[in-house]
Amino acid sequence: MTYDLALIPGDGIGREVLPQGVRVLEALARRFGFELRFKEYPFSSSYYLEHGEMMPEHAFAELRRHHAIFLGAIGDPRRVPDHISLRGLLIPLRQRFDLYVNLRPAAALPGLPGPLKGDPPFDILFIRENSEGEYAGAGGRLRQGTPEEIALQTSIFTRKGVERVVRYAFERARQRRRRLASATKSNAMQYTFVLWDEVVEELASEYPEIEVERYHADALAAALVRNPGHFDVVVASNLLGDILTDLAGALQGSLGVPASANLNPERKFPSLFEPVHGSAPDIAGQGIANPLATFWAAALLLEFLGQDEAAQHLMQGMRRLTQEARVLTPDLGGSARTEDVTEALLEYI
Ligand code: NAD
Ligand code: IPM
Ligand code: MN
Repeated sequence: MTYDLALIPGDGIGREVLPQGVRVLEALARRFGFELRFKEYPFSSSYYLEHGEMMPEHAFAELRRHHAIFLGAIGDPRRVPDHISLRGLLIPLRQRFDLYVNLRPAAALPGLPGPLKGDPPFDILFIRENSEGEYAGAGGRLRQGTPEEIALQTSIFTRKGVERVVRYAFERARQRRRRLASATKSNAMQYTFVLWDEVVEELASEYPEIEVERYHADALAAALVRNPGHFDVVVASNLLGDILTDLAGALQGSLGVPASANLNPERKFPSLFEPVHGSAPDIAGQGIANPLATFWAAALLLEFLGQDEAAQHLMQGMRRLTQEARVLTPDLGGSARTEDVTEALLEYI
C-alpha cells in the first residue's frame, strides 16, 4: 500500500519537529512494509510575507489529493499577527475540509513526571468540535479605532454540527471505558450551550450503556486537575476543547507531548495530524523542541490510515523512551536535543 502525505512544517519549532516525525514514519514504513510518498508545502508566515497569503487558493484542491496532511505548527507572532496566520491556514483547512472531529488523546506516559502529587495515572480521549462553534468566524468590527467601536464574534452552533461530534464521542466511549463527560457553559450561555446539552441528553438515550456526565467547563477544569483518572472520553466545543486540552497537556508533563488528529470521519477530505502545541517562539531555533507530540501525531495518522501495527509499535517505543527517562528534552527535565530523541526512538523501531 502506498500513501501520499502532504507535509506542512509551518513556522518556529514546527519546522524542527516535523522532519523528525517524517524520519520516524519512514522507519516504520520500512519495518511494516508500506510506502509513503511525501510532498512538502512551504505554507507559513514566511510564505505570507513573500506572497501576501498564507496559502494560495489552488492549494486546497492540491492538498485534497493526499491521503493525509502532517503539519508542524503555524504562527510567527513577531512578524505576522496570529489571527492572520491561523485564520489563513490552519482554521480554513479544518473548516473547508470539514475536519469536524478533533481527537486529542491525553494519557500519562510511564515515567514522565507530571505536575500532580503522586503522578496519578489517567487516560483521557478529548473530542473537540472542530468546524463551527466559537471559531465559526462570523462577526466584524464597526467604527474601528473610535471610542464607539464595536466588535462582534458570533458563535454558530448547528444541531447537525453538535450532533455529529457528540455521536462520534459516544461511539468512541462505547469502545473504551463507557464514560462520557460533556463540557459546556450552559449556565451563562443560554442558547448555544443549551442546544448542546439537549443534544447530549437526546443521544444519551440511544446509548444507555454509557454513563454520561454534564459539566460546566470551569468545574471540569478543576475536576481534571483534582482527579484526572476519573475521565474517559470528554467532548467539548471548539473553544472549550482547545483550552481543556492545553490543560491536559500540562498534566501529561509538557505541551511537548500531546497530539491532535483533525478528522473527517467520512473520509471525503484528507485528515490533518499535528501536535497540540504551537510554534513555541520562545525556544524556536535552539534544537531542543520535544518531538514526542509530533511522533504521537504520526501514530494517530498511521492508525487512521489503517496501519494499526505500526501505530502501536510507535506508541510502545514512546512509552519505552519515557519509562527509561534517559533521552528527554528540557521541557521534561532532561538535557537531550530534539534529534537525540528521534535517534533513541529509531533504535527501538
Ligand atoms: P505554544 O504551544 O507554541 O507554546 C507554549 C509553551 O509551551 C511555550 O513555553 C513553549 O516553549 C512550550 N512548548 C510548546 N511546544 C513545545 C515542545 N514541543 N517542546 C518543548 N516546549 C514546548 O503556544 P503559544 O506560545 O501560545 O503560541 C505560539 C504561537 O503558536 C502563536 O503564534 C500561536 O498562535 C501558535 N499556535 C499554533 C498552533 C498550531 O499551529 N496548531 C497551536 C497553538 C499555538
Ligand atoms: C490548537 C491551537 C489553535 C486552536 C490556534 C493556533 C488557532 O491552539 O490547535 O489547539 O485554537 O485551535
Ligand atoms: Mn490550542
